[in-house]
Amino acid sequence: MSEVSKIKRIAINTGGGDAPGLNAVIKAAVISALNRGWECIGIRDGYNGIFLPERYPPGAGLINLTHDIVNNITALGGTILGTTNRGNPMKYPMKDTKGNIVEVDRTDEILAGFKRHEIDALIAIGGDGSLSMANVFAQKGLKVVGVPKTIDNDLDKTVMTFGFDTAISFATESIDRLHSTAQSHGRIMVVEVMGRYAGWIAMNSGISSSADVILIPEIPYDIKKVADHINKEVSKKRNYSIVVVAEGARPKDGEVSVIEKEAGKAERLGGAGEKVAKDLQELTDKEVRTVILGHLLRGGSPTTFDRLLALRFGSAAVRALAEGESGIMVALDPPHVRYVPLDLVSQRMKTVPLDSDTVHTARDLGICFGD
Ligand code: F6P
Repeated sequence: MSEVSKIKRIAINTGGGDAPGLNAVIKAAVISALNRGWECIGIRDGYNGIFLPERYPPGAGLINLTHDIVNNITALGGTILGTTNRGNPMKYPMKDTKGNIVEVDRTDEILAGFKRHEIDALIAIGGDGSLSMANVFAQKGLKVVGVPKTIDNDLDKTVMTFGFDTAISFATESIDRLHSTAQSHGRIMVVEVMGRYAGWIAMNSGISSSADVILIPEIPYDIKKVADHINKEVSKKRNYSIVVVAEGARPKDGEVSVIEKEAGKAERLGGAGEKVAKDLQELTDKEVRTVILGHLLRGGSPTTFDRLLALRFGSAAVRALAEGESGIMVALDPPHVRYVPLDLVSQRMKTVPLDSDTVHTARDLGICFGD
């Protein structure tokens, strides 16, 4: 009997922050699997549905995914399975005998859950954290295929993740709208966008929406240079200024702005825009206002690009399992979707390359990076 014919039941889960397109991946994976005669089980809230079943009414931590359930979800934002970026089972926060919080690896309990529910393979849809965990399961013998997701576009070995195009389209449209109000009042508008430690969202939306300044984690900034650019260069062409700040941007002599750092939780970034706004208020003669786009970037219906990419990833993940693959992630390498080892993905974050033509384009357009 071949590897392939051994698969009878697969599980699908979504982990980390949600991103537009998750439901399209689920739909494509479920229909492709059902058409091969496999059963599909959805795990609620990352791994919680199988790992912490007591949190749910009996049996409700797992969902039997049918045609009816996934039929109409391609255009739907969020994830019908729920997700979490708290309580990483590889570093689960627990109290030791002395009452201290310690991080415990509980991945074996999840593997036992897969065995109990006779799940033969897993499609794990997520970002770096979820894919590292998927890699651990693969190394422990479970058949696993990862699907890369994040609005931040910071996952290595794939040219793009789904969710990113929707996020930058919304950011661009939002910044477009700020031009008229900024111009009417002669103000500086500082717009903070998500992206964690990579500047993809700020870079792509800032260039597309004619920002004057873009501050990204890859280029620590000198606020005096930003103020000089606004006072001397931008003022020659208009009475207002648009400054796009990635949440992970930091001054040359300072730190990334962090709101929260706790055991078992991802670091929460925030405050970078407010910091830049406060400094510019002092260094320019203009009024400054701040807009934080935040979670709005994660909401709403996926763009056509993200829907198609997500559907391609979902069906490729099932094809990979059917071909006997495991321990891999499906990845965009235009015009193809290829398989890359999960090992390689979790090792490196993909940041904006400073010698890319996108960065050269921004500089040619007179956009300041504060360097
Ligand atoms: O990784 C996606 C992301 O949206 C980041 O851009 C952001 O820093 C983070 O998630 C916010 O997560 P939370 O859902 O915990 O606010």
